Amino acid sequence: MSPNRITRPEACAVVIFGASGDLAKRKLLPALHNLQAEGLIPDETSIVGTSRSRFSNEDFVSMMREGVEEHSRIAPTEKTWREIERDIYYVAGDINDEGLFRELGKQLDAVDKERNTKGNRVWYMATLPQFFATIAQQIAKAGLLDTGGWQRLVVEKPFGYDLTSARELNSLLSSNYAEDQIYRIDHYLGKETVQNLLVFRFANAIFEPIWNRRYVSTVQITVAETLGVGGRGGFYEQTGALRDVAQNHLLQLLALVAMEPPVAWDANAIRDEKVQVLRGVRRWSTNEAGSIASRGQYEGYRDESDIDPRSSTETFVAMKLLVDDWRWAGVPFYLRTGKMLPSKATEIAIEFQSVPHLLFAKTAVEELEPNVLTIRVQPDEGISLTFGTKVPGPEVNVRSVDMDFDVETELGSGSPEAYERLLLDCMLGDATLFTRSDEIEQAWEIVDPIQSYWGQGGRPGVYRQGTWGPPSADDLVRRDGRRWREPSR
Ligand code: BG6
Repeated sequence: MSPNRITRPEACAVVIFGASGDLAKRKLLPALHNLQAEGLIPDETSIVGTSRSRFSNEDFVSMMREGVEEHSRIAPTEKTWREIERDIYYVAGDINDEGLFRELGKQLDAVDKERNTKGNRVWYMATLPQFFATIAQQIAKAGLLDTGGWQRLVVEKPFGYDLTSARELNSLLSSNYAEDQIYRIDHYLGKETVQNLLVFRFANAIFEPIWNRRYVSTVQITVAETLGVGGRGGFYEQTGALRDVAQNHLLQLLALVAMEPPVAWDANAIRDEKVQVLRGVRRWSTNEAGSIASRGQYEGYRDESDIDPRSSTETFVAMKLLVDDWRWAGVPFYLRTGKMLPSKATEIAIEFQSVPHLLFAKTAVEELEPNVLTIRVQPDEGISLTFGTKVPGPEVNVRSVDMDFDVETELGSGSPEAYERLLLDCMLGDATLFTRSDEIEQAWEIVDPIQSYWGQGGRPGVYRQGTWGPPSADDLVRRDGRRWREPSR
């Protein structure tokens, strides 16, 4: 990732598998539309959607238009839509059928001729995870990689189901694709504030000296959602919160908070440091997993569509991790995520040690907390620092207040969506914000014992919708004499 870049990628064809699904409609098409509308990618960039649904080209185009109208941060105008629309194609078929790949090949050759896309391809797998391997193999087998242009494969998450299956998928992909052609996507890395975490840490001299076990007492990372599984029951029932969010988004945030300064601002230097952190995360045994992890299921989950009425899939997970290295030894990292919680908020709270000796009478101290640095990833992106101050008046009364940086107020709104950033990076061949094979495997190694422990039986603690998960989540932190912090907004 070049810190400030001005280049535009070469034109390419973006092939979307699972094109009739939600991701294409809600995220990918809006992202491609916005990149084109802002002139960040060439007009010739073409989109070839495929799925089993027997749509005509026109059906597909109008479905995508609806998606862009409903979900894009930039409303399409007649002009921006006309420009993208003429480059949208659709091919129906089954990924197990070699005929589909022959058809795709023909369509892509025609696109190359008409739009001069020079054989450059982004192969985007927006399907259920169990189809990734087949698609990747079929593309190669059909000779679709031999075009003379560049080939990049975008693999959605979860990448694998556990460590063993992730290793298998890595090795299977590596038989047809070089590591630098594989883009394992974690859309959290495309979020502006997540990238700002690195800038905040490494563009400011004052935080690094205190960013360690001597000053930090604990780190809490929360990814909270107010919605339930909605129409994604079929996917979610097989996945659960641990695989859906904890193994990827939460661990990526932890890695960015805890990593050492990289030697350079480039894909491998940054990813090397993230992998180091994940290697340092203590591997709990399956038995220990019972006391460091909590799982919950929201009331009513079993009645959602496509959900087993006796389901034990978790919709909430909380866990305590330790990073066994010189910087972080002994500092607990508490991570939690869940659906149907009281607010939609992703936050990282770095809580510092309390003052060693309090000078003020207990009665003079109203609500004094330790200093906390809160990074609000979403919504209301920003950063705040809590510190103690004197309440005006003749007595010395002390309380906590916030010093706040709000991205929108200071820098304006209109941040690009994560998928815009990531698709653009992929077209530019920049893998910094994508997950490397070793990183994925480390992350599975961390969560696998928890999954195995839960696999032994029992069911997640049921929690009421609109509450912060099951009681076991509170017990997890209470045992260490702590409590969860409410998101600041
Ligand atoms: C996705 C998960 O990766 O992240 C979803 O599959 C979850 O279940 C979503 O809702 C949350 O993303 P965001 O960007 O809304 O925080």
